[in-house]
Amino acid sequence: MAETLDGRRVLVIGGAKFLGEAVARAAADRGARVVIGARDDDRAARLAAELPDATSVHLDLTDEEGIRAAAEKLGAVDHIVITASAHHNVPVAELERDGIAGAFEAKVVGPMLVAKHFAASMPETGSILLFSGSAAWNPAPGLTVMGVSNGAVSFLASHLAKELAPLRVNAISPGVTDSGTWDGLDAASRGAMYEQAAESSLAGRVGAPQDVADAAIWLLTAPYVSGETVHVDGGARHA
Ligand SMILES: NC(=O)c1ccc[n+]([C@@H]2O[C@H](COP(=O)([O-])OP(=O)(O)OC[C@H]3O[C@@H](n4cnc5c(N)ncnc54)[C@H](OP(=O)(O)O)[C@@H]3O)[C@@H](O)[C@H]2O)c1
Repeated sequence: MAETLDGRRVLVIGGAKFLGEAVARAAADRGARVVIGARDDDRAARLAAELPDATSVHLDLTDEEGIRAAAEKLGAVDHIVITASAHHNVPVAELERDGIAGAFEAKVVGPMLVAKHFAASMPETGSILLFSGSAAWNPAPGLTVMGVSNGAVSFLASHLAKELAPLRVNAISPGVTDSGTWDGLDAASRGAMYEQAAESSLAGRVGAPQDVADAAIWLLTAPYVSGETVHVDGGARHA
């Protein structure tokens, strides 16, 4: 039977905007006491003020001492969702060490440290939800760092699930999703990218934040699912 989020404490790291915000809003709609974890304190506090019974905490996944301090300040949380990412999408010949390290810090190293500092005080019914991405399963020039770091997230979910059981650990792998993260592109480039992504999916469209938030809520409340990566990509891996 699905577990409830009503009254549960759900920390969303990267929760101040985009898919993190969508997950935070969806969890709050189901009665969760949401904690927005983000580097942007003002934006996190503004969102928390909009949601019932929500708070915010400063969290930068590149800062272990900050992660430890946040864990001490918050005490027990039921669920943790981590949507953070840092992009370094360049051809192999242009890779920079700091860019590679930054991508892995946001997606892999930081989440490992979150598990280190938070897991021991989480209840057995709790869970951690990581974010991978479809680039892991679709090698493409310029996307090596994104693809490999997202692939590592999927393995991280499996390994953490084994070591931290019965705490559950899962990952979502979104396809191209109109979350706001692409709004920095000019309209023509974004439109072309969305069109190509829609044609390369079985759903015939790009993802919406609600598609991902719905999957996130299911994974947080599905007591018999652990170590899995759920692909929310409109069937793109099969197209
Ligand atoms: N949207 C898509 O098309 C798509 C496709 C495949 C996979 N995904 C994955 O889905 C997840 C969410 O994506 P998104 O669309 O919401 O956009 P995004 O641009 O990847 O969002 C990144 C979020 O992570 C935060 N962040 C970055 N570095 C951080 C750090 N060191 N510590 C704490 N927070 C940090 C950012 O906050 P700041 O304001 O502090 O930078 C932002 O809130 C990501 O993991 C992404 O890779 C998304």
